[in-house]
Amino acid sequence: MTEDAISKDGKSRVLADGTRLPLLGLGVWQVPDGPECVDAVRWALDAGYRHIDTAQAYGNEASVGRALRESGLDRDEVFLTTKFFPRSPDPVRAAQESLRRLGVDRVDLYLVHWPEGGAAWAWPGMQEAAARGYARTIGVSNFDTAELASVSEGADRPPAVNQVLFNPLAHRRELLADCGRRGIALEAYSPLGTGRLLSDPTVAAVAADAGLTPAQVLLRWCVQRGIPVIPKSVHRERIEQNLRVLDVELSAEAMARLDGLDRTGGTARAHERPWW
Ligand code: A2P
Repeated sequence: MTEDAISKDGKSRVLADGTRLPLLGLGVWQVPDGPECVDAVRWALDAGYRHIDTAQAYGNEASVGRALRESGLDRDEVFLTTKFFPRSPDPVRAAQESLRRLGVDRVDLYLVHWPEGGAAWAWPGMQEAAARGYARTIGVSNFDTAELASVSEGADRPPAVNQVLFNPLAHRRELLADCGRRGIALEAYSPLGTGRLLSDPTVAAVAADAGLTPAQVLLRWCVQRGIPVIPKSVHRERIEQNLRVLDVELSAEAMARLDGLDRTGGTARAHERPWW
């Protein structure tokens, strides 16, 4: 990562095409469509989040769109990500349907959700979606190094982002380095291990020493190295607590202790068990 990859205020990652991706976003995976999702997104926006991450597969784009409208914020103030469900045939048509559900005329980031059926087949449609203005930036998710090579080869517009499961226990160093070489921003999902890492004894000890919560320590571990992160929560207090990681700092020693937790051997893989 080059130094200019982080915005001057330290709060956004500048992507290869110049787009700014806020380092902290609210993820809404596993939040049911309806009031729970509308509330979570509203609370996040009210607290100061300017980045919301949804997907066609989550089934809750309509609630995200509703919360966005109800927030009263200008559309341009909020970075909105959705993801192409790769069991659909056509990324362009799927984008049109997402925009209708979200009630917006473009998203900021549109990702291939996973490389089902091969890494490259959806990419021409993703590029077309961007060319039509449906997405400002396009990228991928759950792609390993070979899949990144495959989709980038011959692309008119290479992916700007690879969103993968990433946290101290899944510190995919080789994948991170490969993304860096390609000018692709690695973005972390499941930064709290879907909640499982919150009770890890090392995480708890680092948190106690730093005067932070385990969730904040895990999120700061990503943010401090310029990795955008999208924790999920449906609780207002937690949503607010998570945002505060933009204004704290972990010591080099705390970062090193967390670095020691990796169980992937610094893998180039994007996931341990593909679900497709
Ligand atoms: P909840 O949604 O009930 O608040 P990940 O982002 O890795 O998928 O983790 C999400 C899980 O972590 C959810 O179960 C969420 O619970 C929980 N979570 C999110 N933020 C916090 C926090 N600050 N403290 C405790 N649990 C949290």
